[in-house]
Amino acid sequence: MSRLNFIHLILFSLFCSSIPLARSQEVQIRTPYVATPSDIVNAMLKLADARKSDIVYDLGCGDGRIVIAAAKEYGARGVGIDINPQRIDEANQNAKREHVANLVNFHIGDVFESDVRQATIVALYMLSDVNVKLRPKLMHELKPGARIVTHGFGMGNWQPNRVEEVDGEKVYLWVLPAGNKLSASVEPILLNRSSFK
Ligand SMILES: C[S@@+](CC[C@H](N)C(=O)[O-])C[C@H]1O[C@@H](n2cnc3c(N)ncnc32)[C@H](O)[C@@H]1O
Repeated sequence: MSRLNFIHLILFSLFCSSIPLARSQEVQIRTPYVATPSDIVNAMLKLADARKSDIVYDLGCGDGRIVIAAAKEYGARGVGIDINPQRIDEANQNAKREHVANLVNFHIGDVFESDVRQATIVALYMLSDVNVKLRPKLMHELKPGARIVTHGFGMGNWQPNRVEEVDGEKVYLWVLPAGNKLSASVEPILLNRSSFK
């Protein structure tokens, strides 16, 4: 999907989208479903230096492709959370089809209500304002050394450790330092894909 279509989709979803998470609770979907293309998924995992020992969380996991790729390519365990039950059904089917159901877990939930303390890598393809709202939670729950990797959107004034451009899209990386004090002053290093080969 082109960036322009994505922006239209975002505006439309901001205008009208909501989904019942439980009978008594309606949650606004602030970020519509748009899947990350596989080249960008691969670049995100590479940028995050994914390994077998990692536990990769995708907050707003869609069809589970990031977590599934981490399991398939690196043997990493993973958790995907999405507010839309249909996406979680797809993710579970995809995990079975790719023979990684033993490594991954997908569940329906609101990312703001989900426990991410086990994550060593957090992947995000959410709108900027959602990323920014997630910052206190990520700071509080993630351990030093955890990596946050995002597609397309930054984290407000948190300066990334790295930025890569893949197929015209930006991929950002933050590594949580000791004490989890992410600097707003470190200049981003813009690197192209070949720098990581
Ligand atoms: C842009 S898609 C990204 C999908 C996947 N991460 C990827 O990169 O292919 C955003 C996803 O976040 C989900 N989402 C939006 N708001 C959410 C929330 N508050 N909690 C959990 N999931 C949410 C949507 O249902 C959608 O599947």
